[in-house]
Amino acid sequence: MSDSNNILTTSIGTPVDDFHLIDKLAHFDRERIPERVVHAKGAGAHGYFEVTADVTKFSKAKLFESIGKRTPVFARFSTVGGEKGSADTERDPRGFAVKFYTEEGNWDMTGNNTPVFFIRDPIKFPDFIHTQKRNPQTNLKDPDAFWDFLSLTPESAHQVSILFSDRGTPDGYRQMNGYSSHTFRWVNKSGEAFWVKFHFKTDAGINNLSASDADKLKSTNGDYATEDLFNHIKNGNTVSWTVQYQVMPEQDGFKYKWNVFDVTKVWPHSDYPCVNFGKLVLNRNPENYFQEVEQSAFSPGHLVPGIEPSLDKMLQGRLFSYPDTHRHRLGTNYTQIPINCPYRARVVNQQRDGPQSFNNQGNRPNYEPNSFQPLSVIPESKTSQFRVTGLIGRYKPAHPNDDFAQPGALFRKVFNDQQRTNLINNVVGHLKNAQRHIQERQVKIFQKCDPEYGERLAQGLGFPANKSRL
Ligand code: NDP
Ligand code: HEM
Repeated sequence: MSDSNNILTTSIGTPVDDFHLIDKLAHFDRERIPERVVHAKGAGAHGYFEVTADVTKFSKAKLFESIGKRTPVFARFSTVGGEKGSADTERDPRGFAVKFYTEEGNWDMTGNNTPVFFIRDPIKFPDFIHTQKRNPQTNLKDPDAFWDFLSLTPESAHQVSILFSDRGTPDGYRQMNGYSSHTFRWVNKSGEAFWVKFHFKTDAGINNLSASDADKLKSTNGDYATEDLFNHIKNGNTVSWTVQYQVMPEQDGFKYKWNVFDVTKVWPHSDYPCVNFGKLVLNRNPENYFQEVEQSAFSPGHLVPGIEPSLDKMLQGRLFSYPDTHRHRLGTNYTQIPINCPYRARVVNQQRDGPQSFNNQGNRPNYEPNSFQPLSVIPESKTSQFRVTGLIGRYKPAHPNDDFAQPGALFRKVFNDQQRTNLINNVVGHLKNAQRHIQERQVKIFQKCDPEYGERLAQGLGFPANKSRL
């Protein structure tokens, strides 16, 4: 007896005949979809989030409702600038994206392994990314463009200092932290609001590759981090992070010495300590890379009641960009693809049709208002309201905003001697490839962060030994 699983069929399930050649070639001809415009190279795994401490006084989100509650998750880690086939060990931030399949729909925490970002205005994002990609004429990476942009964008000094520190080349995806970076808004059952930042601290401890090991791996094993994550889980191990919050009452956020809506800034731990409230555990590999990892679509705007966006302008820009690119990359019905589908909730709305609509919502009316099957909105799930003031217009974000104090503190207080030396060597090794006038402008920025930082870079780049040169 033949097993029906072993019989070769066409894509419509008929036993193979002459039609097979055309069917096979035509499908092959269409195998590629657009790669992500950023974060194209990545790896993912399934697992769960477990609540370990009560946060119901801050947020009414159902996934946080009781200690011990578990919510299934899918996480994807990535590099940012490189193409889908690029090396995992490039010096680059790492994406840290987690999809929580809650009973109230999906929450995506779409963060990075760094607590800050290069810019604070979303209009600069396409320009910034262009400078990390390829020159329009040569199709080569362009150190002039990279440093030209950064040296004209002083608010990048904080993130650039982290990027060129040891943390810029993490040893795989398991031994790095994740951060929401942006401030979000938690709202509790009584309608009280708090500003919140999320931190995911690796239980394996931070471990980084030296710059030279990271470089070597680019040519010997470009898939180093992908392989490490997959094999670790395949061998029966789990990967976990302790999930923490920093929280601030709503009104304090408008008065704090740092602009809490500026993603180039952290909240110092001494003012707002990180408090443990959960565990993120990954324990299952994807069955099929394309289906689960490539087709996954995360958005900082995929939020559940009790977790809301803040006034951060970068975050506001991202709210538009992600679903927009998902529709381009995966199609209008990207939320129906199993990995993105909010399978623990129900989708009930007026959206219909479009390519690959697998859940077209039956015979319910496709318009509102209607008197046949009217839909209602749960009042408690409405986005919270708050008063804002100010002039509508296009202008620089409000201060206080010293772009150099926090990277200066990182250099002076957080890094030890060896880490400072590594930072200097890493910046020099890269910045030396840019033109001298760009080098000078960039060194001036680092000098404003800390005079020693600038001076040691100037020496490393071979600037004339003249104290007034900057
Ligand atoms: P703290 O001394 O309380 O915190 C310093 C934090 O820096 C550590 O807790 C650790 O955060 C992080 N850190 C340690 N080593 C490195 C490294 N090699 N590269 C990057 N980060 C590192 O001081 P503050 O909270 O006042 O922050 C001082 C500076 O530390 C900030 O200006 C910022 O540059 C940096 N920082 C601060 C974070 C924050 O949320 N406050 C988070 C990360 C960095 P972690 O536990 O997250 O690894
Ligand atoms: C991916 C835009 C800033 C984290 C992406 C993608 C776009 C994008 C278009 C591709 C998404 C896809 O194809 O599915 C932007 C814009 C930004 C911005 C316009 C600023 C205005 C940030 C910041 C962070 C971040 C500040 C982190 C705090 C990520 C992550 C991914 C991603 C983790 C990959 C998600 C995945 O694994 O699929 N971004 N981004 N981005 N971005 Fe951003």
